[in-house]
Amino acid sequence: MTPVHLIVNGEDYHLMIPPNRILLDLLREDLELTGTKEGCGLGKCGACTVLLDGRPVHACLILALQADGCRVDTIEGMADIATKALHPIQEAFVEKGAIQCGFCTPGMINTARALLGENPDPGEEDIKLAIAGNLCRCTGYHKIVDAISSCACGKGEKERGKNGQV
Ligand code: FES
Ligand code: FES
Repeated sequence: MTPVHLIVNGEDYHLMIPPNRILLDLLREDLELTGTKEGCGLGKCGACTVLLDGRPVHACLILALQADGCRVDTIEGMADIATKALHPIQEAFVEKGAIQCGFCTPGMINTARALLGENPDPGEEDIKLAIAGNLCRCTGYHKIVDAISSCACGKGEKERGKNGQV
């Protein structure tokens, strides 16, 4: 077993893990953060996308040890627990009907979060390019692109400002 230190959704975790533990299993099984989904397990569907020091990664392809000392942000850290308010990107997905079964949604939202963090005003093509690695098999992509677009305009900016985060 090997020690690892992760900052997950702002909380410090010091764990002893097998060296071959992947980040996805650590999140889902050790920390019981099951919002991060396992689809293909091969880096092809994007369902397991989380943010590693602010950059989107496939948690199924990353060894937990590679994240040692890093910040990991998952879907569980997005809503404001105190006020029970959804993050503006989550709100936009609900408002635009960009969710059906929801399996792809945590990964899709994390990808959107990274995109908007890097480029607060992405155009439709930027959004399509950003989510190209996130597969959705039921909603279709129009509503997802609409939801992310709605966060890129003045309204999205104002709402993001309220929570002080992207
Ligand atoms: S489960 Fe990681 S990319 Fe599909
Ligand atoms: S909402 Fe079902 S896979 Fe995207």
